[in-house]
Amino acid sequence: MLSFFALSSILLFSSALIAGDAAALADASSIKRRDVSAHGTLTFTYPSPNITRATINNGPVNYVDQFFIADVLDFLTPLQNVSNSTPKVVIFDSSNPHFWIGQIDMTSLATPITTEKKQLGANYVKFTTLLQNITSTIFIAEIDGQAFGAGNEIAAQMDMRFVGPKARTGSFEEALGLIAGGGGQTFLGTIIGKAKAMEYLLAVKTFDGPTGEALGLFNKYYDNSTELKLSVLQLAQRIALFPRVALNQTKAVLSFLDPPSNAFNSDFNAFYEIEQLPEEQANVRKFLELSANQTANRFELGLGESIMALYGLWNGSPTS
Ligand SMILES: *[C@@H]1O[C@H](CO)[C@@H](O)[C@H](O)[C@H]1NC(C)=O
Ligand SMILES: *[C@@H]1O[C@H](CO)[C@@H](O)[C@H](O)[C@H]1NC(C)=O
Ligand SMILES: *[C@@H]1O[C@H](CO)[C@@H](O)[C@H](O)[C@H]1NC(C)=O
Ligand SMILES: *[C@@H]1O[C@H](CO)[C@@H](O)[C@H](O)[C@H]1NC(C)=O
Ligand SMILES: *[C@@H]1O[C@H](CO)[C@@H](O)[C@H](O)[C@H]1NC(C)=O
Ligand SMILES: *[C@@H]1O[C@H](CO)[C@@H](O)[C@H](O)[C@H]1NC(C)=O
Repeated sequence: MLSFFALSSILLFSSALIAGDAAALADASSIKRRDVSAHGTLTFTYPSPNITRATINNGPVNYVDQFFIADVLDFLTPLQNVSNSTPKVVIFDSSNPHFWIGQIDMTSLATPITTEKKQLGANYVKFTTLLQNITSTIFIAEIDGQAFGAGNEIAAQMDMRFVGPKARTGSFEEALGLIAGGGGQTFLGTIIGKAKAMEYLLAVKTFDGPTGEALGLFNKYYDNSTELKLSVLQLAQRIALFPRVALNQTKAVLSFLDPPSNAFNSDFNAFYEIEQLPEEQANVRKFLELSANQTANRFELGLGESIMALYGLWNGSPTS
């Protein structure tokens, strides 16, 4: 633990210095450079002029609630208007030692589904769609923690995923009788193929670093957190040197490999129908109970295996 904190303070210190330089260079451009999002769930640093690092920090499990969704939407929306100051690469990392991005705010899935809860879902789709629609910026997930449920779905919708020793991702939805209906199923199918996607989705299996790398879900796995950070930054810096027009055309043309948007839309609608069924609602409430309302307890730290507690098949270990 000591060494972890020493290391993070060195990293924080040096990135603060670099961010200071970048801020001094920033001109009065159309994209305002901010240090922190409106609700505080994202912190921005600027490791070099064409690169933005968005560091996620939202509660004990970095969950996807209305505030996080609003902050990401607010960050991505202006990137549609491309100018010289638009970042060519955005790296999403996390300051939470255990979680990259957690699951959705499960209280938003508990019936009754209000207008407010529906809006949360709609805004979630809006921002994940922007990860594709914005073709002039490359989105990199730098994952060194857990990403189950929505976190895994969001990662799958970014352009690349690099992971460190603490990365463990997956979808636990099927165990609740739900589906990874926010892009998780469709994008996973596109990335790793139908057969593997079905295996991991239906059986609620976890991707650790080496497994995810072997399946092509992760671009690369690093067994050293510092090397993950350094390598992702080096890659981003290399990409950021080259003219934007080519970057944009490459991302735009490769979008023919994205899952069809009608599949995405019908899955999202199916999600809200399925999740309001009685067995699913009981499981949503059980999830909130087991996780003590989405806190970093043994259950949350043990995802995705701990979800087997719903079937009396979890031995209580955080990382089994
Ligand atoms: C793009 O820029 C125009 C002109 O400044 C502005 O009216 C519009 O709201 C911007 N759109 C987005 C999505 O930021
Ligand atoms: C994203 O692009 C698709 C297809 O080009 C379009 O139908 C959709 O309206 C766009 N969505 C947003 C949020 O810009
Ligand atoms: C991780 O990588 C860094 C940078 O290359 C190195 O200084 C450090 O010793 C490595 N840590 C371990 C545990 O190997
Ligand atoms: C940033 O992008 C611009 C425009 O393509 C380019 O001229 C510049 O060299 C890039 N700077 C860095 C540090 O990558
Ligand atoms: C990006 O590429 C697409 C597809 O060719 C094109 O429609 C769009 O105008 C390009 N955007 C920029 C900012 O170059
Ligand atoms: C979880 O939240 C519910 C509703 O707000 C509350 O009744 C319950 O006591 C909370 N449980 C824990 C363990 O905090």
